[in-house]
Amino acid sequence: MKKGYFGQYGGCFVSPKIKEELEKIDIQYRSLKKNKEFKEELEYLRKYYQGRPTPLYYCKKLTEMVGGAKIYLKREDLNHTGAHKINHCIGEALLAKHLGKHKIIAETGAGQHGLAIATVCALMGLECEVHMGIVDIAKQKINVEKMKLLGAKIVCVTSGDGTLKDAAESALKAYENDFEDAIYCIGSVVGPHPFPTIVRDFQSIIGRETKKQIKELENRLPDYVVACVGGGSNSIGIFNEFIKHNEVNLVGVEALGKGNKVGDNSATITYGTTDVYQGYRTKVLKNENNEVVDAYSIASGLDYPAVGPQHSYLSDIGRVKYVAVDDKETLNAFYTLSKVEGIIPALESSHAVAYAMKMAKTLDKNQIVVVNLSGRGDKDVEFVLGVN
Ligand SMILES: Cc1ncc(COP(=O)(O)O)c(C=O)c1O
Repeated sequence: MKKGYFGQYGGCFVSPKIKEELEKIDIQYRSLKKNKEFKEELEYLRKYYQGRPTPLYYCKKLTEMVGGAKIYLKREDLNHTGAHKINHCIGEALLAKHLGKHKIIAETGAGQHGLAIATVCALMGLECEVHMGIVDIAKQKINVEKMKLLGAKIVCVTSGDGTLKDAAESALKAYENDFEDAIYCIGSVVGPHPFPTIVRDFQSIIGRETKKQIKELENRLPDYVVACVGGGSNSIGIFNEFIKHNEVNLVGVEALGKGNKVGDNSATITYGTTDVYQGYRTKVLKNENNEVVDAYSIASGLDYPAVGPQHSYLSDIGRVKYVAVDDKETLNAFYTLSKVEGIIPALESSHAVAYAMKMAKTLDKNQIVVVNLSGRGDKDVEFVLGVN
């Protein structure tokens, strides 16, 4: 496959000066990832700072309630800062230091990537600037306060509909003006090459651990691995290790939001068309005038009108099945997992839980479904209670 591409998707569609900078980052990253000291430092921080490995937990009560396949959760919610995002943030911050950068620029939707990057910047003594849409700032108040406490500067983005896509545009623009001093730490497997590859590599720890853990617990691989898809980092993180095992079915769950009308959902693979967006080619949600739409989801972290290029490719070749669940099913899963297992899931992750519950019911008792529980729902409690 052409470097930086997944089939026809991916690439690096940016100004020549940024392209040159990204090529430098790509070269440095490839050499760094083989470096023994870098690998040891990453491993040390993952183990003693972040809390890896995260457990693979068998949901006995949920399985009995649903009545079908065994449901396991990969507990990414137990990471320091409460979600999988810190998996790539530690790696990206180490890369920034290696490149001699003093500052990190990032975007955030649910605030989980922003919180994780603000945390590692505090740890590593880097300046941190997080761009966030005005709507998400109001919705994810607690994460905004935490980021400020950690020393990050929050840039409030009022353009567009004030959500993740607008924050990403604002962050990219800020990076273009500051690339000599700063590095852009993107929050998912999106953006121009090499970001989708770098983020995927750092997130792949999820799948490697899951494979080892399920073999220890069940002495075999799972039948299904299910994860929610916004930009696509937690899903690629758990899928990557299983792609080569064709007997493992991979399911990506998108946000159907309020329904299938344009602008009512964030189900990019389900309803998108191919185009270049924010520096890379992928599937994008558009309206009848060929304009990118303001996507919608109850989960701020899924509220994005595009998707990582590797997902567009995996969908085309049929290796991953992409489905979509709506807000109502998501809220039901949020309450169910909280009440039945004592685990409050993030609204993003609740999409995966909702689909897994629906699917497990139709499967045999001896089959195994692993759900990537990408984050915890503390950030969502106030909002959910306000909705109901
Ligand atoms: C807990 C959680 N899960 C999932 C996502 C979606 O992102 P991705 O698809 O990159 O995993 C987010 C994004 O903010 C998140 O906070």
